[in-house]
Amino acid sequence: MSILFSEDQKIVHITNASISYVMEVVDGKYLVHRYFGKAIRQYRGCGEPHYFKRGYNTEHRCSIPNVSFDDFPFEYPTRGHGDFRIPAFAVTQESGIDFTELLFKSWRVVEGKPKMSVLPATFAEKDEAETLEIVCEDETAGIRVYLYYSLFKDKGIIARHQRVENIGSQIVKLQNIQSISLELPARDYEFLSIYGTHAKEGNINRFPVHHGIQRMESVRGSSSPQHQPFFALMQPQTTENAGEVYSFHLIYSGNFLAQTELDQFGNVRAQIGLHPDTFCWKLAPQEVFDAPEAILNYSCQGLNGMSRNFHWLYQHHLMPSRFADVNRPVLLNSWEAMYCDVSLEKLEEQAELAKRLGVELYVLDDGWFRADNTTHTSMGDWKCNEQKLPGGVKKVAELIHGKGMQFGLWFEPEAICKNSELYKKHPEWMLQVPGYAMTEGRHEYLLDLSRQEVREYLISVLDFYLKDGMVDYVKWDMNRPLTDVNSLALEQDRKGEISHRYVLGLYEVLEQITKRYPRVLIEGCSSGGARFDPGMLYYVAQNWASDNTDAFDRTQIQSGFSLIYPPVAIGSHVSITPNHQTGRKTSFNTRYQVARQFNLGYELDLTKCTEEEMAEIAVQIAEHKKERSWMQKAFFYRNEVPNENYVAWSSISRDREECLVMIFQKFFNPLYSHGKFPLTALNPEYDYRETTSGKIYGGDELMEIGISVPTVKEDFHVFTFHFVRTEGSTQMKNCESR
Ligand code: DGJ
Repeated sequence: MSILFSEDQKIVHITNASISYVMEVVDGKYLVHRYFGKAIRQYRGCGEPHYFKRGYNTEHRCSIPNVSFDDFPFEYPTRGHGDFRIPAFAVTQESGIDFTELLFKSWRVVEGKPKMSVLPATFAEKDEAETLEIVCEDETAGIRVYLYYSLFKDKGIIARHQRVENIGSQIVKLQNIQSISLELPARDYEFLSIYGTHAKEGNINRFPVHHGIQRMESVRGSSSPQHQPFFALMQPQTTENAGEVYSFHLIYSGNFLAQTELDQFGNVRAQIGLHPDTFCWKLAPQEVFDAPEAILNYSCQGLNGMSRNFHWLYQHHLMPSRFADVNRPVLLNSWEAMYCDVSLEKLEEQAELAKRLGVELYVLDDGWFRADNTTHTSMGDWKCNEQKLPGGVKKVAELIHGKGMQFGLWFEPEAICKNSELYKKHPEWMLQVPGYAMTEGRHEYLLDLSRQEVREYLISVLDFYLKDGMVDYVKWDMNRPLTDVNSLALEQDRKGEISHRYVLGLYEVLEQITKRYPRVLIEGCSSGGARFDPGMLYYVAQNWASDNTDAFDRTQIQSGFSLIYPPVAIGSHVSITPNHQTGRKTSFNTRYQVARQFNLGYELDLTKCTEEEMAEIAVQIAEHKKERSWMQKAFFYRNEVPNENYVAWSSISRDREECLVMIFQKFFNPLYSHGKFPLTALNPEYDYRETTSGKIYGGDELMEIGISVPTVKEDFHVFTFHFVRTEGSTQMKNCESR
């Protein structure tokens, strides 16, 4: 891992065993991008573009002949001086002028990866990362921009961050500050993103990049289920296991823009950052603003290579370390069993059965504070309804702890109902636009988290329940997008800051709570996976992926999220059949196998299960407990499948001695009976014994040829294989030695 400068200090080369990132300063002032990709030993100017004079263009005072700024690989581009492509940065000066030109000033190496701002970001020990700081300035506007590049040891990962400082004497308005802007060489690319909706998150979108701009975004106030703040660019032939992938992920939970522009000459510019349409920040002299961190990930081993990098980074350098490598408890969540119709009697009955099955954490979901059994009432007050639960939360916690389980409680801290006491007392605490009726979402409104007193109130509510240790786990939900995005407390010239201030407010509350109660495991949730993003993952060690618990849909949802998140961060529950969301019927085994390589839980009314089903659950939980210590740290791969009728996943222990494979058959179809499923990332030198059949295969054989599955006349059927390294392999003799 090193950051190398050329002798004349014109070139910087950031490199480790996997990647190289090269920039050059042209004419002492223009910072240009030269290369990002597989590691090279040294950059000596190979592949520099050849410019020629074109019509309908601009000329520039630059030592490179015929350069047009519209075709120049600016490292951090601005608009107004001849580069007409998507800009990464813009300020409006006090005069109203919108022109910005950032010129290179200096660069230096910073030890390790310092914590730069209050925003969530990846972290590393001093010997695990190295950071380059580049300073650029627009002296006329009085603006200094710091560009940070943190290179992680050995991995294809660079964490990017931008800070802007007002070094002048005028107030400026920051209009745009992208977290990454990357120039890629002219060639064919495909764009991959993750899109969805409530109860159908995590879908993969892949299409050829065309001329013009392609953008994915959220203006919903949170990262949203519609688009993940992520995209990847790759060559058309890239598969799960082969080919180059450049990917981008923003560590942020609010509005974002992810975009790619293919210009007229075939150059590609890729950016990700705060959404400029919903952002405008007043920056007074001496003030600084920090943009969210974004991750740049390079893989030359296809999408699985990309996922490996993200999984490693997020499990070890983003989520709370205290949960990264510890066994996650098997939980039972009350939502699908009781919805809001909660009672102590039902709860006791469920908890007793759960304990017998080996459940370790009982989670009381929504309903415990509601005045009725719907989602229409009481949000914001956070007082337990003692008619439903006599003795309150304390009594419930004692009851659950008394059965030897941990106790988890659901909150939706950001929301408020109009019929709450809180609303009567503080109607000014909601996001609202004077003169307009507020927009309801799931019968609720949102608190204005940009207000200090609102944040203090939320912290006091959570303190009340967490301070004496009665709650071991919190499910932090959020069930609607932001509308009426206005704060009654914020001055007129700061209105463009509210969306971002909301997210900063949320992070401040989470920061306080996780600092005060580090042992409390928090599961993020937002109507399922609507705010499943790396910003939240910094505080919450796991996230509920979707309200859709149907095993068939879950294969798609979890495959999609597995592109970027380690399975241990993805909550997956076994629920009842027919499924409450889809009406689909699947076997208990199918539901379990789809959930078990992720963060396993149960969410069903146990009193409705038959004796056989209860026995099956008990066996599943016992098996999961036996395997989870290696599985939750395992490398996870999406295996290549012969056709779209199958989904295949495998978890491989870090020492590659053990591997669990799941093959999901969508529909019985005689046409598809002879496909092979090559495994990934085993040790080719090892022999593995399949524990059910006792058969022994070489790692190379399993990877080069692949396993096969029998014909089973059943839709949604799952095949599982558990391979364990063995020494006792039988070798075939070759002909000569006979
Ligand atoms: C939405 C979540 O995704 C569900 O799991 C559940 O917690 C409900 N909210 C409760 O209102």
